[in-house]
Amino acid sequence: MPAFSQRIAASLIHRRQQGLARQLTPIVQGNTTDLHHQGSDYVNFSSNDYLGLASDKNLSKAWQTGIDRYGNGSGASPMVTGFSYAHRDLEDKLCQWLGYSRAVLYSSGFAANQAMLFGLLEKNDLLLQDRLNHASLIEAGMLSPATMKRFRHNDAQHLAHLLSDNTLVVTEGVFSMDGDTAPLIDIAQAIEGKGWLAVDDAHGIGVLGRQGRGSCDAAGVKPQLLVVTFGKAFGLSGAAIMCDQETGDYLSQFARHHVYSTAMPPSQAHAVAAAIEMIASQQWRRDKLDELYYCYDKALGGLQGYVHTQTPIKPFIVGQSDQTVSLANSLKDAGLWLTAIRPPTVPQGQARLRITLTANHTPQQIAKLATALQSRVEG
Ligand SMILES: Cc1ncc(COP(=O)(O)O)c(C=O)c1O
Repeated sequence: MPAFSQRIAASLIHRRQQGLARQLTPIVQGNTTDLHHQGSDYVNFSSNDYLGLASDKNLSKAWQTGIDRYGNGSGASPMVTGFSYAHRDLEDKLCQWLGYSRAVLYSSGFAANQAMLFGLLEKNDLLLQDRLNHASLIEAGMLSPATMKRFRHNDAQHLAHLLSDNTLVVTEGVFSMDGDTAPLIDIAQAIEGKGWLAVDDAHGIGVLGRQGRGSCDAAGVKPQLLVVTFGKAFGLSGAAIMCDQETGDYLSQFARHHVYSTAMPPSQAHAVAAAIEMIASQQWRRDKLDELYYCYDKALGGLQGYVHTQTPIKPFIVGQSDQTVSLANSLKDAGLWLTAIRPPTVPQGQARLRITLTANHTPQQIAKLATALQSRVEG
């Protein structure tokens, strides 16, 4: 008798008993900041659509143009017949914008991260990861044949201590649950000559750096491998690994998530290319975020749980999971949609509201959030 049913039931019961069960909630998304659920309206402080492009009408038009030009799906994996001029154009735009000679496209950031680590690592390699790296990176590292060690969060000295020859060091540019930025200059200096650096800039691309080129551009560091994702500031989905010519050739031959997976729809590749143009030319979106950070710091700065960041990700630390869920639910009564982030996504005792700002928010919405939080945290 297979043990699957028993195991599934036991895991679900355990998760519910811990108060950590999550729920899929269908919502209707307005302009990023408006969210509708079961007849009520909310201000959404939980999306990764940092620049407000997910609902941008010009970007929708670009996607429609892509459909008119290239049809619906790609119909095959890239090496078969799934690769089109739209994909080639997107690769070229990414390379030009970010200063790399190759871009290898994937359907998601999760796939890109797994492809990168599974594709590159062998048995005698050392993989060093920031201990707060995303699940896609940590999981791939654990399953890869390399030896994986985690260095203390943002601690380049600890990293230097662990380094040996043939090391791949992986960090996020902006940490997804904390909103802080990696010390990329120190990390790059520590690695110099000993290994390669890979930066997953899912949350920095579009938001930081000149014309939104991301965390590495902001730090003046060029890692050997840069993962950029299109599901956050780009308002779409998909991802690319940026690298040199030879590594790109290698990944497109050997990285299984590229070789054995249907290519993203060409219309989507066309839309991502349009998003790059908007991100690079519409500085006002980043300027708007800067204004909102100022409003946020001023309004929430004194509250217990507040954490200062220079990115759109603003963790508000509560501590215990049940308290965090109650706080998020109670904020819904005030028309504010926030998601409680609990272990195992964050360490035990550090459950939080992951507040995110987008260029579509208004100072009034932040003031409303501050008042609601203050009355609940202090009242
Ligand atoms: C740091 C980081 N990397 C990778 C991913 C995965 O990207 P995608 O959502 O495109 O699969 C995420 C998604 O949340 C992330 O936060």
